[in-house]
Amino acid sequence: MRVERLELKNFRNYAYQSIEFGDSINILYGENAQGKTNVLEALYITATGKSQRTSNYQEMVRTGCEGFEISLRAVSGERISQVDIRYSREKGKYAEVNGIRRDRISDILGTLNMIFFSPETLDIVKGSPQQRRKFLDILLCQVSKNYLYSLQQYNQLVKNKSLALKKGRNERKYDEIIPIWNANMAKHGGRIAYIRDRTIKRLNQYMKEEIRRISRQREESDLIYRTFTDCINDADEAYYAEKLEIRMREGMNKEKELGQCLYGPHRDDVEILLNGMNSRHYCSQGQQRSLALALVLSELKWIEEIRGDTPVLLLDDVMSELDQSRQEYLMKGLSGIQTIITTTDDHIMGHGLFEKADRYRVISGTVTRMI
Ligand SMILES: Nc1ncnc2c1ncn2[C@@H]1O[C@H](COP(=O)(O)OP(=O)(O)OP(=O)(O)O)[C@@H](O)[C@H]1O
Ligand SMILES: [Mg+2]
Repeated sequence: MRVERLELKNFRNYAYQSIEFGDSINILYGENAQGKTNVLEALYITATGKSQRTSNYQEMVRTGCEGFEISLRAVSGERISQVDIRYSREKGKYAEVNGIRRDRISDILGTLNMIFFSPETLDIVKGSPQQRRKFLDILLCQVSKNYLYSLQQYNQLVKNKSLALKKGRNERKYDEIIPIWNANMAKHGGRIAYIRDRTIKRLNQYMKEEIRRISRQREESDLIYRTFTDCINDADEAYYAEKLEIRMREGMNKEKELGQCLYGPHRDDVEILLNGMNSRHYCSQGQQRSLALALVLSELKWIEEIRGDTPVLLLDDVMSELDQSRQEYLMKGLSGIQTIITTTDDHIMGHGLFEKADRYRVISGTVTRMI
């Protein structure tokens, strides 16, 4: 997939801006607070319906304006996709794909595929389980409508049940409603666990290759899915659903006592091992970053495999966080993938790796192509 053209109206610090992107590497260069990340944010919204930094659309409306508009034209092979997103305080969110209105913003998922990579992604290995779950959810929601649906249902159920558990026994219908919620949680949670397990197994294979490459065959990685039950081979959705229901039934008193939902994929983690050791505690900073890089490149390959098309990679301020050899490793992994990079560093601009890149200068809400 290639992004051809992005148009912004009253989005963040942009009054009006149109940008035509090149097919391979695009560098947005400028000082701090000029609007580089805002461009990536707008691109990302057209693929996921969500901003990577806020859940509040109003925050993205240019100060003093009524609402914003983002239009994007992308191509993959012969297919052209036009995504239009509008928002105003009065009318709320509005999305169109190829001129056809979508009921909800999340319905645009699956039209475009983008991966957002920032210094926070580099911290995924040492970060919290929540960060790793978020990584998986963003990836899976882009490629699976079933996953997205089950995740939305499941999260709502966790919210309702947590509230009821917190309020305690005196809550009306408490004992009747929880088993009903549990049955639904088991159904959706079972599906989530099943899809996560299959995905992690595949990512694991890709990641092993990447780690061998980056460490010159010296190191071996493993991704292990940790959920509410053992991940046996051939397990299907029903297996996970049954296990989850049993866990919740047996642990009901404990959940009531603590006032929390204790079992299910909202507590999952992905263990990342290097040479058999937990990388969160055992690896050097550099090794952790290599693992994060390898994970992102594995994600790229996995999306390519599932969708039969390459995603667009958005790199926000990442290059200057990487040393020379990791920069080279990353760029070598990206041939044939359209990449949009932001940087404040003019050394990056002059780097041999980026000789053929398309360059743009960003100054206070204006993007100009550099010749
Ligand atoms: N709703 C808004 N209306 C107007 N301006 C906004 C709005 N939201 C953010 N901004 C402005 O956008 C600018 C920040 O843009 P952005 O985050 O894209 O900067 P950047 O170029 O990526 O900088 P850095 O290099 O520091 O990451 C800030 O000046 C901020 O005040
Ligand atoms: Mg920025």
